[in-house]
Amino acid sequence: MRGKFITLEGMDGAGKSTHIPHILDHFRARGLEVVSTREPGGTSLGERLREILLHEAMHPETEALLMFAARREHISEVIEPALARGAYVVSDRFADASYAYQCGGRGVDFEKMRLLEQWALDDLQPDITLLFDVPVNVSLQRLAKARSPDKFEQEGADFFTRIRDAYLRRAQQYPHRFRIINSDQPLEDVIRSLDRIISSI
Ligand code: TYD
Repeated sequence: MRGKFITLEGMDGAGKSTHIPHILDHFRARGLEVVSTREPGGTSLGERLREILLHEAMHPETEALLMFAARREHISEVIEPALARGAYVVSDRFADASYAYQCGGRGVDFEKMRLLEQWALDDLQPDITLLFDVPVNVSLQRLAKARSPDKFEQEGADFFTRIRDAYLRRAQQYPHRFRIINSDQPLEDVIRSLDRIISSI
């Protein structure tokens, strides 16, 4: 039986990284094979592209193209083989991040992004997307404490407001797969909401 493709999204500082180990443990405890991966990255080529993407300034469309180059490799090397053998693939970000960051944040044309998505993804879509959502000021407060912020984490409130809006628009557009987790509440409450969602996946 084909596995499940679960993606985690949210702007920087939304708390996604805190919850990944818990999500993986949950599925493993059910005896499932779990593949934990991330974007940009997930393959040796992808991780090299990640270094460039997170640290070098470039044209927004170059950024989109490199994200999708890394993603194309990720799909054929990691995601598709794992799904085909029945694994649960948990990816820290996927194509929704390109709509949020490159279209929403940087202003890349939406139609160009759709073409890129059709081209690189074929019909692959996540089964479930967990969107960790916090107000922009909360995310900025958390990012202010980060030790060596990358290129994206150094952006300001306007950039993150556009990203949050773009994510929330996508969640409205694809309600069948998006689950929004309000991460602006005490950790135990976030975990409780998360558990309710992942126990039904
Ligand atoms: P992130 O997932 O936040 O990793 P970490 O927790 O290690 O900081 O970092 C990835 C960054 O890449 C994040 O700022 C969002 C950005 N990004 C895009 O701009 N577009 C994309 O398509 C993807 C996958 C990520």
